[in-house]
Amino acid sequence: MDIMGSRRMDRFATSVFSELAHYKRAKKREGLDLIDLSVGSPDLPPPTLMMEELKNSVLNPSQYGYTLGGIDLFHEAVAAYYESRFGVHLDPEQEVISLMGSQDGLVHLPMAFVNPEDLVIVPDPGYPAYETGAYMAGAEVYRLPLKRENRFLPDLGEIPTEVVHRAKMIYLNFPGNPVPALATREFFAELIRFAKKYEIIVVHDFAYSELIFDGKKGVSFLSVEGAKEVGVEFNSLSKSFNFAGARVAYLVGNEKIIQTFKRLKSNIDYGIFMPIQRAAARALKEGSSFLENNARIYEKRRDLLIDGLARVGWKIDKPPATMFVWAKIPEGWSSREFTYALIDQAGVIVTPGDGFGPNGEGYVRIGLVQPEEELLRAVERIERSGVLGKKTISI
Ligand SMILES: Cc1ncc(COP(=O)(O)O)c(C=O)c1O
Repeated sequence: MDIMGSRRMDRFATSVFSELAHYKRAKKREGLDLIDLSVGSPDLPPPTLMMEELKNSVLNPSQYGYTLGGIDLFHEAVAAYYESRFGVHLDPEQEVISLMGSQDGLVHLPMAFVNPEDLVIVPDPGYPAYETGAYMAGAEVYRLPLKRENRFLPDLGEIPTEVVHRAKMIYLNFPGNPVPALATREFFAELIRFAKKYEIIVVHDFAYSELIFDGKKGVSFLSVEGAKEVGVEFNSLSKSFNFAGARVAYLVGNEKIIQTFKRLKSNIDYGIFMPIQRAAARALKEGSSFLENNARIYEKRRDLLIDGLARVGWKIDKPPATMFVWAKIPEGWSSREFTYALIDQAGVIVTPGDGFGPNGEGYVRIGLVQPEEELLRAVERIERSGVLGKKTISI
C-alpha cells in the first residue's frame, strides 16, 4: 500500500531544525566532541520543592484520574501568581486554562478561531509554533519583520491594509525567542489600539517572563489597560522552573477566548497528570527566590559568553533576557554556512537564524544552556577554529 501524508503535511517538510539534528547525530557517531548550544531545554534542575511535591503525589493512589480542564488548585495558583507578580487580576475559573506545555496551546489555538480564508500574523524571526498553529488550522500566515533598528519591536503601521483586514490573530513574544527583545507598555498600548481597530485577537507568548536581567522586570501584556478585551497570554513552567519535560503551562486572559478554547481542548485531551499540576501550583506559590536565582545564573552565563566572544573578536549585542543570544554573524557567511562551519571546525552547535523566518538570515541563535566552563570552552574553540577570521568552507 502506498501511504501518503495529507496535503497539510506538505507544510511540515523537513525543517532546518531536523536537518541540524540529523547532522549533529552523524557527527556524534563519528566521535566528534560537541558543545551543544542549539537546544532550548534548560540544563538545570527544577526547585527541590517541586520534585518533592511530585514524588509525594505520585505515591498517592488517588492522583491517577483524568483531570480534564485542570484542577482548581493549579488555576488558583496561576491567578495568585499573576496578581502578585504582574498586578493582573484573573478569575481562576473563567480566565485560566491549563495546558500540556504552551506548545499545546500555541498550535491548537488558531483551530478555535481562524477559518481557511483568514490570516495569522506572526513575528519574523519568530518561534516556529506560531506558524504551525496557523497551518494546522488551514490558514495562511503573514510574517511581520522584527528589525534591529527598531529594537526588534514590529512596526504595526507597516502591515499592508489587505493583511490587517484578513488577519484574525496576531502572535507576539516578548522577551522573545529567538530575538530576546523586551516590549514596552507603550508598544502594548499601541498593539491594543491596533487590535481593537481591526478586530484581531492578540496572543502574547510570555514563556520567558522570569528570565529577565539587569534588574529589569517583564511587562505582562495583560497588565496594560484594555488587553483583556482583545487577547490572551501564554505562560509556562518549562523555562521559569526548569520543568520542560513535565509539560505544564497555561493560557490566561479574555474569558470568551479561554472558554471557546476550553471547548476545543475538551475534544483533544483529558488534562495534565495531577501530580504535575500540584508540583506546578506549589512552585508558583512558593518559588519566588528560585526564580530570582535562576535568572542570575543565566545572566552570569550571558556575560561570560558575550564578554568572551568579544575578546576573541565577535561582538554581539547583550540580550536583556531569555536563555538565548541572537548573534549577528561575520560578513560573508549565510546563517547555515556559518552554523555548519562552527560544528565542523569548532565542534560548537548553534541554530541558524533562518530557521526562524527569512528575517533571521545573517544571525545564529546561541543557547545559554551549558554550565559556565562549557561556555568558556566554546569561546576558546571558536577562537582556535579561525571561523571568525575568514570564510574557509561553503556548503
Ligand atoms: C517562545 C517560546 N514559546 C513557547 C515554547 C514552548 O514551551 P513549552 O515547554 O511550554 O511548550 C518555547 C520553547 O522553547 C519558546 O521558546
